[in-house]
Amino acid sequence: MRQTAHGGNINKAAALAGCPPSAIIDFSASISPLGPPRSVLAAIESQLPNLRHYPDPDYRELRSALGQFHQLPSEWILPGNGSAELLTLVGKELAELAAVNLITPAFGDYYRCLLAHHNVKVLEFPISLDRQEHNCSAPTQGESSPVSPFFLNTRKSIGEGGFACTLYPSQNHGLLLNNPHNPTGKLFLREGILPYLKDFGLVVVDEAFMDFLPPDEEQSLIGEVQKYPNLVILRSLTKFYSLPGLRLGYAIAHPDRLRRWQSWRDPWPVNILAQAAAIAAVGDREFQRQSWAWLPQARKQLFEGLANIPGLQPLPSAANFLLVKCRQSSSKLQTQLLQQHRILIRDCLSFPKLGDRYFRVAVRLSSENQSLLNAIASVNSL
Ligand SMILES: Cc1ncc(COP(=O)(O)O)c(C=O)c1O
Repeated sequence: MRQTAHGGNINKAAALAGCPPSAIIDFSASISPLGPPRSVLAAIESQLPNLRHYPDPDYRELRSALGQFHQLPSEWILPGNGSAELLTLVGKELAELAAVNLITPAFGDYYRCLLAHHNVKVLEFPISLDRQEHNCSAPTQGESSPVSPFFLNTRKSIGEGGFACTLYPSQNHGLLLNNPHNPTGKLFLREGILPYLKDFGLVVVDEAFMDFLPPDEEQSLIGEVQKYPNLVILRSLTKFYSLPGLRLGYAIAHPDRLRRWQSWRDPWPVNILAQAAAIAAVGDREFQRQSWAWLPQARKQLFEGLANIPGLQPLPSAANFLLVKCRQSSSKLQTQLLQQHRILIRDCLSFPKLGDRYFRVAVRLSSENQSLLNAIASVNSL
C-alpha cells in the first residue's frame, strides 16, 4: 500500500526525540512562520459567543469576501474543511472519467482522493527533477522562474530517467496538478497550462501555495475560470496564513459543479471560527505584504546555506519550501536531526519517485534556518 505520510506530525516526532511537541522546530510542514496573523486571532476571538449558533449553510458572508478578494461572483466559490475535503470531492468527479493524468512526484493526498474509488485509472506523468530544467534565472539565490509545463510541446511518449510515460489528452480524461508544484517548488506558466483546458474533460489545479507569490509574479488560473466550465481551482489558507489546525480551503469552479458538490457533503463543513478567520485573513493586506517581503530573502539564505553543504543539492523554488537532493539517506538524516537537534525535516519516502535521496524543508525565520544549517553540517551523515 502506498504511504500517504504528511509533514507536520510533531507529536510523533516529539515521541521519537523524547521531548514535548513545543520543543520541535518543524521544517517538515510547509507553513509560514509569520502567522497566524493577529487580525485572524482577533476575528476568531470575536466569534466565540456565536459558537452557540450553526454556521450559515450557504456561507454567504465568507463567499462574498472570497469573491471580492478574487474579483469573482460568490457563486463560483465553495469553502471547505481544508482543501483536503474539497480534494475528496474532486476525486469523486475525476474517478468518473476513463483515466486521470497525475503529475508526479505528487502530493500524497491525491492518491487518497483517487484510489478511494474503485476502477479509477491513474496515469502518472513525471516532471523533470533536473536543476537545469527548473529554468532558474538566478540559481544561487534559490528562486525559480516560471517554467513551461513539463509536457507543453508533446502529446506522445516521454522518457525520463528510464521511466517512460505517456500523457493521454482526451475529453474523457482528467488532469490533476499543483502550481506551484509540491514537492519541487516549480512554478508553471499560466499560458502553459491553458492549452490543456481544451484537451482534457476536467482540469484540477491545486494552488495551495500560490499566495506566496506577489500579484506581479503569480500564475494563478483564477482569472480564467469563468471561461472554462471544466476548470477547478483549489486554494488553501493553511500554508500562507499558518492555519493548518483551523481547516479552511476553497474551490473555485463553475456554480453548477459547486452546487453538485454541496449536495454530496455535510451541511456545515466550515465552522463559525474558521469562517471569521478566513474573512479576516484575505482582508489583511499588511500581512500579505510582509509575507511577500520576507520569503525571497529567507529562501535565498536557506538555499545558499544548503548548497554550500557538501553532498546537498537544493532545487530552486518559487514556494516556501525547498526540495533537496542528498548523497546519502535522507531518512537517516531525519532521525539524526530529530534526536540530536529536535529538528524535523520531511523525508520523501512517501513520494515514490523521490525515495530516500531527497528531503524537503520549509523556509522559516532566519535564526531557525540557520539552526537547521548548523545542525545538518554537524551531523556527519552526508
Ligand atoms: C499541494 C497541497 N495541496 C493541498 C494540501 C492540503 O491543505 P489543507 O490544509 O487546505 O487541507 C496540502 C497540504 O499539505 C498540499 O501540500
